[in-house]
Formats: sequence, C-alpha cells, structure tokens
Amino acid sequence: MKTTRIASAFSMALMAGAAIACAAPQASVAQAQAPDAVAPSEVFTVSSPDGRTRVEVTARDGQPVYSVERDGKTIVGVSKLGLRFAEGADLDRGFSAVSANRAVVDTQWSQPWGERTIVQDRHEEVSVRFVSTSGPERAFTLRVRVFDEGVAFRYEVPDMGERALVDEITEFAVDPNAMSWWTPAGEFNRYEYIYKTTPVRDMYRVYTPFTLKMDSGETAGPYVAIHEAALIDYAGMWLDQRRAGVLEAELAPRHDGVKVRVSGAFNTPWRVIQIGDTAADLVNGSDIYLNLNEPNTLGDVSYFTPGKYVGIWWGMHINKYTWGSGPKHGATTENTKQYIDFAAENGFSGVLVEGWNIGWDGDWFSNGDLFRFAEPYPDFDIEALSDYAASRGVELIGHHETSANIANYEAQLEDAFELYRDNGYSTVKTGYVADASDLVVHDDEGIRRYGWHDGQERVVHDLKVLKKAHEYGLAINAHEPVKDTGLRRTYPNAVSREGARGMEFNAWGTPPNPPEHTAILPFTRLLAGPMDFTPGIFDLMPNGEDDQNRVQTTLAKQLALYVVIYSPVQMAADLPENYEANPEPFQFIKDVPADWKQSIALDGEVGDFIVQARKDRNSDNWYVGALTDEDARTVSIPLGFLDKGRAYTAEIYRDGPDADWKTNPYAIALETRDVTASDIIEIPLATSGGAAIRLIAE
Ligand code: NOJ
Ligand code: CA
Repeated sequence: MKTTRIASAFSMALMAGAAIACAAPQASVAQAQAPDAVAPSEVFTVSSPDGRTRVEVTARDGQPVYSVERDGKTIVGVSKLGLRFAEGADLDRGFSAVSANRAVVDTQWSQPWGERTIVQDRHEEVSVRFVSTSGPERAFTLRVRVFDEGVAFRYEVPDMGERALVDEITEFAVDPNAMSWWTPAGEFNRYEYIYKTTPVRDMYRVYTPFTLKMDSGETAGPYVAIHEAALIDYAGMWLDQRRAGVLEAELAPRHDGVKVRVSGAFNTPWRVIQIGDTAADLVNGSDIYLNLNEPNTLGDVSYFTPGKYVGIWWGMHINKYTWGSGPKHGATTENTKQYIDFAAENGFSGVLVEGWNIGWDGDWFSNGDLFRFAEPYPDFDIEALSDYAASRGVELIGHHETSANIANYEAQLEDAFELYRDNGYSTVKTGYVADASDLVVHDDEGIRRYGWHDGQERVVHDLKVLKKAHEYGLAINAHEPVKDTGLRRTYPNAVSREGARGMEFNAWGTPPNPPEHTAILPFTRLLAGPMDFTPGIFDLMPNGEDDQNRVQTTLAKQLALYVVIYSPVQMAADLPENYEANPEPFQFIKDVPADWKQSIALDGEVGDFIVQARKDRNSDNWYVGALTDEDARTVSIPLGFLDKGRAYTAEIYRDGPDADWKTNPYAIALETRDVTASDIIEIPLATSGGAAIRLIAE
C-alpha cells in the first residue's frame, strides 16, 4: 500500500516539474528541447547475488532515473538522477540509457586492523551509459553495484574541463511513513546533535547515515540506511526532503557557494542504500562502505597498533583542569608523568595530552590562527616526557585542535608532524571545533574565507592530512570530522573519528546524551565506521548530584560500550582515581581488546537495545556487549558463535538486581560461569543499563 503512495507522489512531482519547465519563458537549451523530443530509453536491471534486491535504471522522458526493490517490495521508488553546473550543459535532462557493461565480483580481502580480519565482497555490477538524445552532446555512466546488503551507485563523468557543480539532484524516494532516526544537517553544531525519532515525512534535512524502518504489516522492516562511500574531492551529502518521502542529495557548500569544483573526468562518491531484514543486519552489512572504497594505497601502516589509551582530557571537560596555561593547566610535565605511570601500570598503550601547545589562552574556539603546533607550553617538556613514556613502554598521543582553521593548520603541518615523529608519537587526535559554516580557508589570492565543515575544501584537507601523516608514520583520529565513508580501507592510517555526540556531552551538554543515544548510534553513525566516543566514565555525576549534566547510564552500561562501539583507539576516559576506586569493573576495561577477528551484531532494535559480539584478533576469546535505552529489559544471548565443543569461562559484568540509571546506577554484579556454544545467557538490563561479557577460551 505504502509503495503505491510513494510512486504516485513521485509521478505527481514529475508532472509538476514538467509543467514548470514548459511554462518557463527563459528555459535553457536543454530544457527547451526536453522532455518530449527524446528517444525512448532502454531499461537496465541488476540484482544482488541472492536475487532478492533488484535495481532498475533507465531514462523517463529523457530524465535518468533508478528504483530499488527487495523481494518485490519497493524500497526506493522511481527517483531522479543528475548533476547541474554553473556553466555548460547539465547532466540531467534529454538523456537515454543506451548500453551497459556487467561484472560479477566474489572476492575477499584482509584489513590490517578492524572489526574483522577478512572482508567479503560479493556483488553484481552494471555500468549504464547515458547519452544525450536532445540538447547539447553529453554522456555519463552510472555504475551500479548490488550486494546482498544493499545498493550503491555513482556517476562517472567524462572530461568536460573545469566546471562548477552547483547541484546534485539524486533523489531517494522512500516511504514517507517509515520511522526514521536522524540528526539535522546544515546547522551550527556539525554532526553533534541528539537523534530525533520521527516518521520520514516529519524531517526536513538530515545527515547520513540516515536510517529508516519500513513497516511491512506483520513484521517490522525492512531496515534501510542511506549514506555514501568514498567521499573524495567532493562535498558531503545531506538529504533534503522536498516532498513527502522524496529525499534529494544536497551538497555542503564551499566558501564560494559552489558545491564542487571539478576539473577533468571525475567520479562522484557512491550513493549507498543499505537494506536489512533486521536492525542487526544493517550493522552486520556495513562492510559495504569498505568494499566500495579502493584497496590500501598507503602500504605498510604497521607504525599504528590498535590499543587503549588514557589521557589528560576529561579533567578539562569537567573543569578540573584547563587547556590553557595557568594554575589549573592540565598538560604539565608532572601531571603527564602521572598519567604515563597509570597507563604503564594498567596496560594502556597510549596517553593523550590536550592543551600542551601554544594557542589555548583566550577564546580558542574563535581564534584558530593562534595555534602553534610545534610550540609546547613552557611547562610541558615534550622531549623529557617522550623519553619517560618510552622508558615505561607507553606512547604519547598527539593533539591538534585547529578550531577549523585549516589554513593555519596546513601551513604548519610539516613542522607539527615532524615534532611528533621525532618524539616517538604514532597517533594524532585532530580537532575542528567551530560553527559548521566557519571552516577557515584561504582563497587563491590568500584572502580568508569560510567554507562548510563537510564541504569539498574540508574533504580535500582531510586527505592531505592523512597522506602527510603517513609520510611521518602517524595515524589520525579526527574529532569534528567529515563523516566516515570507508576511506580507512584506502588510507588505513585513518583510524578513528568522532562525528556524533560523544561522552564529552555528558560533562557539559545541557542536555547530556539521553539513555537511548548509544542504542541509536550503532544503527546510524556507527554504520559508517569507528567512533572515538571515549567511554568508561565511572563517576557518573562528575559535576555533583544536582547538576543536570551527568552520565545517564548505569556503570555496567559504560563497560558494554567497549564492545558495542568499535574503535581501534579506545579511551578509558575517566580520571585515574575513579578507576583505582573501582578495581573490579576496571578489570573489564583492562581486558577488552581494541582489534577484532570477527564482529557479529546478534540482536537489536534501533533506539531500544543492541547485543554485539566480537572475537579478539589476538586470542580465541570472545566479548559481548549489550545495552538498553531508558527501558529495563532482559536480553537472551545464544552463544552459538563460540567454537563448538569448546569450554569457555564467561565473566559477566551486569547491572545489580536493583540497578537503575537514575536512582542506583552504580549497582553492578560480577558473575563467572562455565559455558559452551550450546548455552544461552539471559541477562536482565536495568533502565539505561548494560552488560559486558568476556568469554575466555579454555
Ligand atoms: C572537542 C573534542 O571532541 C574533544 O575531545 C576535545 O577535548 C575538545 N574539542 C578540545 O579540542
Ligand atoms: Ca566534539
């Protein structure tokens, strides 16, 4: 029923568009000759390896279009394709689909680090060639790949010289009544918003991954996530709802208002529509983004080892320390030594130190040009600390807050990275705190201009940073990043990033992250890739019991985050004294790895709960994390993923019997059990509670 409504809404939209084009007195050449004069187009289809998902590509009245169905049900109704430019002819009207090349791929490849060692890539591909049949002579190719886990396509555009792309008109005509989870796009705080849960029709403009749940009557689903892969030298895609259910790609602008400046032949990023029967299928199918990226071009990145870190960080967020100089300066030599000792004594490989360099005094949010990336504050002795860290088997992790002044950062990049390389660092946390429209760039004449945080200029900058960092043997963990689109396959020193509300919002977020936040992230932001969420806060009310900014979880849920949220750099974010005071739960953080042989989402519902299992890359042990939203619930965890016939000891950290995130968040129980693959563990989770399980292979 709903799909019929989508189709009819879409055809009404097409009719309305045609009427406007006919009525316009100053229609362009292409518009004046389209749509009536075009030849009928061929229809090309391609199906997923399992035969369930089918994509159709053609042109209707000269307008390139596509649609997606699964098991005969419409997932994306007939939707427009096209690119528009400031000069020269557009690539959207007066076309016919004339020919196609096909390919079938069934292969696998391995990752140096990740959620799993081996990634399968099985898909069927069709490259449909569109040529103009009216208006100026033009052509482009739409390359379509259909996986069991979803659909992807990109435009491949031949050399048309230097042009200003002003609009991508790719549409995704989805069910306007589907429930959806989203953050608003084009607002000041970049990707850092509390998720909204509404029918699709009630949102305006969103970032991707944008996740929705269709309703098939008897069963929930299918679940769909729209996102992009291989965002290179292009602008980040937002989704704009122009009419109910019809989402149009909107590109983040450059400083000059153009969306993308292209030169010569180019490919757009892949537009991806993930499809799953269950919410967990989306999580398990998210390798699609990696598969759509090119293989590793950096080569050896063994300078980076996945690991856990502590740092002089939370102390600033709760006002114990300052980033800037003065009596509360956090990044002092003395303080850093203590963190190095704590890391060494507890098996952490890294110590992050923020506020170590000149530039933090005053309003750093607005004064990115004051940052000096190779000049430590006088009370931070970088050489002595690096030697001390090395003597204790620990590494310092660098921090570069740029306040989104990429012009200032790029001018110092070589010196900044050289200093870190010379002092034995291998990971740098970058930061781009500023309003989303305040990315500072310099134009061709060196004049200061402002672009968007996920516009083409920032996308280009990020790749420049990754390549330069690789030259210096450095991995990058970006905060206030451009969204993850799977580039870590090609550039495996892109190890983690933020890109959603992380733990810091619980220190000062007003309101802090609600209990459902981490039950939404796995099915939205985390589909895209690793997140440096910085879990593990044990003092859940760091600002005092009456302050509204607190951590809205139980203690056990903090442990669950280490398995639920994937990142190859995983922080133990709280102050050392809070871990020392709670040695039993801290043991789980010490034990849990940050690099995995395999990952399986076992169960979940967007915004309600998730159960995630992962196998350690360096042993036969498995780990399970389960967490829930504001509702208490019991999760049932079948252990069928364990080796058959093998004995395991399960160390289960779970909410105490009377735990409740508001009234009794610290109640935690540790239980040890002998289990095998045929067991099912039932665990009650408290309100905003969780469980973390370590399954030790005997
Ligand atoms: C925002 C980042 O998310 C946070 O981790 C960092 O501490 C501050 N910016 C300062 O750079
Ligand atoms: Ca942030």
